[in-house]
Amino acid sequence: MKRIFSGIQPSGEIHIGNYVGAIQNWVKLLDSCDSIFCIVDYHAITVEYDVSRMQRNIREAAIVNIASGLDPSKCTLFVQSKVPEHTELTWIFNCVSPLGELMRMTQFKEKAKQHLRNVNVGLLDYPVLQAADILLYKADGVPVGEDQVQHIEFSREVARKFNHRYGETFPEPQALLTKSPRIMGLDGKTKMSKSLNNYIGLLEDGDVIWEKLRTALTDENRKRRNDPGNPDICNLFTLHQAFSTPEEIERINRECRTAEIGCVACKKNLFNNMMAHLEPIQKRAKELTKDQTYVDSVLAQGAKRCQEIAGEVMREVREVIGLK
Ligand code: AMP
Ligand code: TRP
Repeated sequence: MKRIFSGIQPSGEIHIGNYVGAIQNWVKLLDSCDSIFCIVDYHAITVEYDVSRMQRNIREAAIVNIASGLDPSKCTLFVQSKVPEHTELTWIFNCVSPLGELMRMTQFKEKAKQHLRNVNVGLLDYPVLQAADILLYKADGVPVGEDQVQHIEFSREVARKFNHRYGETFPEPQALLTKSPRIMGLDGKTKMSKSLNNYIGLLEDGDVIWEKLRTALTDENRKRRNDPGNPDICNLFTLHQAFSTPEEIERINRECRTAEIGCVACKKNLFNNMMAHLEPIQKRAKELTKDQTYVDSVLAQGAKRCQEIAGEVMREVREVIGLK
């Protein structure tokens, strides 16, 4: 059975970009893969964060993932810092990672710009920690959104460099993408992200979501109701592709181009489909919020399994690099 590994940061609300770009794929792969999912708290501390909210965010990330369909009996869910081998392997990988390449990473350059007063070494080293996450479990596949593809490529390079220097140890992991690997923010300008406040949270109330959709940017060239629109450049059409049926997608594609359907009706249709999708998740999340013992026990079991795998791989790594 192939092993997949993926991670999500506990840095606030999980949004529909995370869901459509990554989590849906995780759920789809549960039955056919040995699936390991990680709440990456070590990654989350590379930018400024609220210490007092960290544990709440970690729990919420676990709840949203389970509620979205990550059945704990079919996968392993754990918190990164509960397996300190991640940082040990990061150090070892630091010593085979090319600095120039890290400095050229798109996410590093973007975050360095966003956090001008806190461009710390962790921010630069972020992809090395990510490579350690993946390779510590010798994962074959890494289901992520498009923004992470560069980091997965980097992980492959780390595996190659390590293997070249110390002998064949790690497989080269493959990025696995969904059919909507890049969801744009409601402003239509940049990708949906927690830090840009242009997102729809998975657990937000219907009226909040409707207000966000109602005011979201569509095809900018469509000024009046009777102007034909262009779904190819409409941000909301991407969301239809994620939440609506194939027949509806086909109809909206056609009726938008001929101005038979206006943006408001199109948004209402999307809203209804989106809520039909989100409501069961929200209901399950509410139940899980009341059952903290269960959520904690899922994470504890996950950590136990990962500690065992990580312990074994680290013994092998220490041996091959001559640090028994
Ligand atoms: P993060 O919240 O940054 O830890 O992201 C968790 C997962 O969601 C990663 O696999 C990301 O690639 C994916 N993701 C985040 N934002 C988006 C987006 N706007 N569109 C598609 N996938 C995304
Ligand atoms: N860097 C990823 C993100 O920001 C999260 C992540 C950390 C991850 N470690 C990982 C994703 C390992 C896949 C595999 O979304």
